Amino acid sequence: MPMDDIECNGEREMLDETPQEEPCSVRKDIPESTNGKGKRELKPPRVLEALSASGLRALRYAREVEGIGQVVALDNDKASVEACRRNIKFNGSVACSKVESHLTDARVFMLTHPKEFDVVDLDPYGSPSVFLDSAVQSVVDGGMLMCTATDMAVLCGGNGEVCYSKYGSYPLRGKYCHEMALRILLACIESHANRYKRYIVPVLSVQMDFYIRVFVRIYTSASAMKNTPLKLSYVYQCIGCDSFHLQQIGRTVSKNNSVRYLPGFGPVVPQECTDCGKKFNMGGPIWSAPIHDLEWVTSILADLKSMKDRYPAYDRISAVLTTISEELPDIPLFLSLHNLCATLKCTSPSAVVFRSAVINAGYRISGTHVNPLGLKTDAPMDVIWDIMRCWVKSHPVKEQPSDQPGSVILAKEPAFQANFARAVASLSKAQAKKVARFLPNPERHWGPKLRAGRQITSKHISLLGPEAVNGSLKHDHDDGDEEAQVCHKF
Ligand SMILES: C[S@@+](CC[C@H](N)C(=O)[O-])C[C@H]1O[C@@H](n2cnc3c(N)ncnc32)[C@H](O)[C@@H]1O
Ligand SMILES: [Zn+2]
Repeated sequence: MPMDDIECNGEREMLDETPQEEPCSVRKDIPESTNGKGKRELKPPRVLEALSASGLRALRYAREVEGIGQVVALDNDKASVEACRRNIKFNGSVACSKVESHLTDARVFMLTHPKEFDVVDLDPYGSPSVFLDSAVQSVVDGGMLMCTATDMAVLCGGNGEVCYSKYGSYPLRGKYCHEMALRILLACIESHANRYKRYIVPVLSVQMDFYIRVFVRIYTSASAMKNTPLKLSYVYQCIGCDSFHLQQIGRTVSKNNSVRYLPGFGPVVPQECTDCGKKFNMGGPIWSAPIHDLEWVTSILADLKSMKDRYPAYDRISAVLTTISEELPDIPLFLSLHNLCATLKCTSPSAVVFRSAVINAGYRISGTHVNPLGLKTDAPMDVIWDIMRCWVKSHPVKEQPSDQPGSVILAKEPAFQANFARAVASLSKAQAKKVARFLPNPERHWGPKLRAGRQITSKHISLLGPEAVNGSLKHDHDDGDEEAQVCHKF
């Protein structure tokens, strides 16, 4: 694409940035720099903001990221591209020299620019699924794909069949559904990457507010790609007691310095749950390998702390990254203590007491950034239920019908005596230091607003608040609004 076709005529568009007065000059190609010894240095990273709307994000890359190279902003909506071009002009010479805007279908652009961008950012309305195939091809080797999804109702099991058609995975309704959503998106990106002998390495995977966002590096290697089935699993979730078990898709056998790739052994569960006797739903496949690069997260957290004053959202970002930095990296999904107690109809031990019992039984346990009540552990489900059986012995429950999952679980004697004495590691480091790990929403009715131009109806009160709806009520039954499918109900 030519670099000199930036339109700079137009007036001010709404952007929070301070206007700059410099005239808009046309960008010259950035020359390759040398380090004085004739060796080539790294070129400034090129960014593709594939779905840029008014260009807010593209402009922030250009103006706020030190050392950034060219930023290409795409949109297939004419008004958005015009707004983007006005915003480039409004943001002065740095923006004009770095950001270029094109009216085009992002999919076509990415397909015709293979391995060209160090960073590809996908920020769609709803699902990114239709952009993934082209996006994975447009990233350079070792480059980063950043991808948002806001169709949480689909990804969290509201419409399993829709999720399957979009992402190739079946979601399960469970307390861990938001983490499952992250893992479904990662599995989907991996599957698209594999078609081109490429694979992903997740760097950071975040669920916040009403959306998920993943940051993955993309590499090309036909041999490394063979490991993909080892990183994917189906999930069996009991319909009675919510116990869950992972079924890895592939396995390897090493012999005489060579590795054979084989299908996973299965099934990992019998037809009926060994804890409560009910059947299992099967979901997935999900990405069951680590979803963050913890070294990277720790280093970003340190950078963030050293530049605290530069980030207005410092408290929020550091809370999320702190919780992520303490997540058990090798444990997919998590338990909910409240859920366990709801199954048994018992009072809940405190998180510290429960965590202590797990640690005292010889297992690891951590929190999760996805849910303040979620607990990740490598303790098998039968150990978890034994701990709960011991808890109930000293905190008895009212008698329940004998066919209830809770009654079936409690009818068995525990195989060991749980020790609830407080374990040193029962508080996370952040909890021990009283560092905030979860913050409340910044305002009431926090969540995605409606797509521009949509009619506000009574069903939007829960999303926008009565003030926003205020008099413009129209009682209709339009269920096709993706932005309205937010996760408030989960
Ligand atoms: C959620 S908005 C992007 C918001 C933007 N990233 C920001 O941070 O302000 C999604 C944009 O994608 C655009 N879009 C949808 N399908 C597209 C396609 N196939 N090619 C290019 N743009 C597309 C829409 O016009 C819309 O402006
Ligand atoms: Zn069960």
